[in-house]
Amino acid sequence: MRRVTTTTADLWHHYGRTRAQRDRSVPESFHWIWSQDGGPGAEVLGDLSGRVVGDLGAGAARHAAHLATYHEPARITAVDASPAQHTMATDLYGHLAPRLHIVRSDVVPHLHAMADTYDVLYSVFGAVDFTDPRDLLPAAALALRPGGRLVFSGLGHYLNGAPAQLDVVPADVAAKTPDGAPTTMHRWVLQAQVWTKALDAYGFTRISVDVLPATTEGPRTADTLLVSAVRRA
Ligand SMILES: C[S@@+](CC[C@H](N)C(=O)[O-])C[C@H]1O[C@@H](n2cnc3c(N)ncnc32)[C@H](O)[C@@H]1O
Repeated sequence: MRRVTTTTADLWHHYGRTRAQRDRSVPESFHWIWSQDGGPGAEVLGDLSGRVVGDLGAGAARHAAHLATYHEPARITAVDASPAQHTMATDLYGHLAPRLHIVRSDVVPHLHAMADTYDVLYSVFGAVDFTDPRDLLPAAALALRPGGRLVFSGLGHYLNGAPAQLDVVPADVAAKTPDGAPTTMHRWVLQAQVWTKALDAYGFTRISVDVLPATTEGPRTADTLLVSAVRRA
């Protein structure tokens, strides 16, 4: 399966770039939903004080910066494979080190190198959406301490309204190369029961999936799946 790596075009070059030019603030709130304007927040992750936390596919690290600033984790590592996103995150929030640690890596090798390290791993429409779950979920289970939690949000259905998949299969979705040429990348948009079965198969228990309805109507709005699971002891 193809992933974002340094040897392929950075398909996240444009993402968040305009906002980064005008908004350098640490967000005062944390949202899971697609529209980033409501719904549950960081409380879903439980008490993070003194915890070791990882953001999988952190982008510009706005969510991680919020947690580092307002929730006192021992350490939060914001992992992203995109050189552009890593540069943006470092520019915006590098000053939050050492509590916030910004890492450029594909999450799968990162997690393999961090066995039994994390108390909490989370992803907001991040690497969990864009990485084969058969690679990512066992790696996340390995990197969590027994009893540690994985929480992630992803699309409840495709942006054109088509239903999510009934099996662990990706779709090709539109993307852009750094020079603006249209291309595609894989996105895993899976039904709740498919995530549940995959999480169970790869070492998780106490699995819950909530559907958070879109807060607005119109094209490219979406319901959000908010998934939580605990690494089996
Ligand atoms: C839609 S963006 C979301 C970024 C951020 N979570 C946010 O909410 O703004 C998806 C991000 O996941 C990253 N990503 C996708 N697959 C990844 C992987 N296997 N390893 C690391 N990062 C990945 C991309 O580089 C991109 O920055």
